[in-house]
Amino acid sequence: MSKLINVAKLSELPVGALLAVTVGDAEILLANVDGVVHAMGNRCGHMNASLAAGVLAGTTVTCPFHSARFDVTTGKKVGDAVVLPPPGIDKAPAEMLPFLQKAGRLSAPIRTHDCPHYEVVVEDDAIMVRLA
Ligand code: FES
Repeated sequence: MSKLINVAKLSELPVGALLAVTVGDAEILLANVDGVVHAMGNRCGHMNASLAAGVLAGTTVTCPFHSARFDVTTGKKVGDAVVLPPPGIDKAPAEMLPFLQKAGRLSAPIRTHDCPHYEVVVEDDAIMVRLA
């Protein structure tokens, strides 16, 4: 079994906060939900945005890029990305429209996947995560 790795201080993660930490190649999102710390992958299962820049509401983190939602207690997707034409696209220069339309066609079928989830142990002020 892998060992626990000290990744942050509990005092750095107030209730309702998100914090990204890096351990080796792993980017981990810490979330404090009502005093209980959860850990999952920080990179969105859609297009890799940092979920630490998202919004935590209850146990759900919403990605800042296209609003996919994930349960921080499991890492599982609970809502798909919303890929809409950007506001003002109708006012874009005509020469930009083919590029924007192609970007829309290519990004529309991109699937959103679950994120990794990690065991967390808190001892005193230490947040420790067990990587697989
Ligand atoms: S990158 Fe997160 S929803 Fe698209």
